[in-house]
Formats: sequence, C-alpha cells, structure tokens
Amino acid sequence: MALPGISELVSLEGECAIVTGAAQGFGAAISRRLGEAGATVFVADRNVDGAEQSADRLRGLGYDAIAHSVDIADRDSVEALVDAAEERAGRVDILVNNAGIYSNYYFAQMPPQLFADTVSVNVVGTFQMSQAVTGRMMADDQGGSIVNIASVDAFNTSAEGLSHYTTSKHALGGLTKSMAIELAAHSIRVNAVCPGAAMTEGAIALVTAGAPEGIDLEAQWDGIKDRTPLGRLCDPDDVARAVLFLASDMAAFVTGAFLVVDGGILVQPLEGYVPSSGH
Ligand SMILES: NC(=O)c1ccc[n+]([C@@H]2O[C@H](COP(=O)([O-])OP(=O)(O)OC[C@H]3O[C@@H](n4cnc5c(N)ncnc54)[C@H](O)[C@@H]3O)[C@@H](O)[C@H]2O)c1
Repeated sequence: MALPGISELVSLEGECAIVTGAAQGFGAAISRRLGEAGATVFVADRNVDGAEQSADRLRGLGYDAIAHSVDIADRDSVEALVDAAEERAGRVDILVNNAGIYSNYYFAQMPPQLFADTVSVNVVGTFQMSQAVTGRMMADDQGGSIVNIASVDAFNTSAEGLSHYTTSKHALGGLTKSMAIELAAHSIRVNAVCPGAAMTEGAIALVTAGAPEGIDLEAQWDGIKDRTPLGRLCDPDDVARAVLFLASDMAAFVTGAFLVVDGGILVQPLEGYVPSSGH
C-alpha cells in the first residue's frame, strides 16, 4: 500500500485554525507555521491592534490570515470568534489554545485576585474556547485537533513566584487528558505542547519590569538557560513546529500526549547537571 507523502501529511490546505494569543510570542510563530502549511488562520487576541499587525505580516507572506478580537475568559467573546471563523471558513478544524498570562509573586504575597485571574485565563479560558469549538466539531462529526500550550510547569514548577501559573499549567495537563479521552470517539485529538522558557514579548516585558518582593528575574532566566542541556532558551518557532506536527496528520494517532519542547531541562539529573563532555 502506498504511503501518503510527507508534504501531504503535513499539509493543512483547506483547513481552518484558530490560534489564541496570536498577536505576539508563541501565538504569532504558531500562526505563521499553520499559515505556511496552508490553513486559513484566525489570529485571535484581546490585543486587537497586535492581532491585526500579526495577520498583516502573514498575509504579506502570502498566507490566509484573519485578525479577530477575543477575550478567552469571556464566553460571549469566545462564541463570537468561533461564529466568525465558521462564517468565513465553514468549520473550525484546529484550535490552538495558546493565550495565557504569567507573572511572579512569592506564594506568601500572592494577591488572591491575581491567582484567580491566572486560573481564569489559562484554565477557564482554554476550557471555554475548547468547549465552543469542539461542540461544533461534534455536531458535524468531522473530527479535529486541539493543541493546548501548557509549559514545563505542567510537570514541575520552573522558578520561584509561580504558584498561580504552575497550578494553572498542571490543570491544563488534566484538561488535556480528560478532553482526549472524552472526545476521541468523535475523532477529535487533544494534545499539549510543553515549552521551556522563551524570551517572547511577554517574557521580555516581565523581566524588564522586574518582579515585586525581590525576585531576581534576570538571574532566574539566566539560570534556566545555564541549566538547559541544549544550551539555549526556547525559540518560538521550536514551539510552532511542535504544534504543526500535532495539528497535522503527521500525528493522526496521537492524542492525550504531552510534547515537551524544553531543550532537555526536565530530564536532567535531580542533583546538579554535569555538562556533557561531548563523548
Ligand atoms: N514565554 C515562555 O517562556 C513560555 C514558556 C512556556 C509556556 N508559555 C505559554 O505560552 C503561551 C504564550 O506565551 P508567550 O510567552 O508567547 O506570551 P506573550 O505574553 O508574549 O503573548 C501572549 C498573548 O496572549 C494574549 N492574551 C492574554 N490574555 C488573553 C485573553 N484573556 N484573551 C485573549 N488573548 C489573551 C496577549 O494579548 C498576548 O498577545 C502562554 O500560554 C504561556 O503560558 C510561555
């Protein structure tokens, strides 16, 4: 039996993808790769100007991209986005739940509202986007692919001051597994990409602004880089390539998986990393 060719497997021609948080950072990089693979991409963000600029850049590369506003924590806004995508493309085939927020506060000083807001955007927002999109996928029974952008914080806490964030990313892991099991009968695959630290626009703004309560963010980020076996921070395109794999037929039998894109930081020895001598 002839196997499908690689370019056919990775092609998203004729498919529609929504990427949340796509004005910048990982979301912009993911939109670019999905657009290159042939998808119509809804570049969705609560930063509408940023989404417009991001979509403009994609159209400049010859890809089909539409900017749309969304606040994933707001159900009406989520439904309006999915309505618009369906109206434009017929159906939504791929959802990348990338929008998320992060900050640094020691647990003892964590403002309760910030904890709640972080869970609201990162977890409830992802739940709402997923429920809106998969409800329609189930109705027409043509399947689909959901990719949740979690983090290495879905497994361990990556740094100080992240109790709200680490909690939210652990929760995304649980959501990914539950959705994968419940939606498999409808041919909807649900997977997570778990990136390591990347100097995205959001991360740069965080480090530049500095954290309260004396957390040394520059030292924290330098430390992550030093401890990463592959010797560098994550690049947004590293994440985009992983998302393209999971979104496409390259991953046709993959659901409930966590694809870690962290340069090896999670698998190093528990006590101190001894750099390889190259042998
Ligand atoms: N940068 C990292 O080191 C890193 C590492 C692992 C995981 N992540 C995760 O990757 C995702 C993207 O991170 P990034 O660093 O590119 O972030 P970023 O701050 O650069 O970009 C995030 C985008 O999401 C949008 N957004 C935030 N809240 C929203 C909401 N309620 N509705 C719609 N849009 C919203 C923002 O406007 C922004 O454009 C997040 O889920 C983050 O937790 C980031």
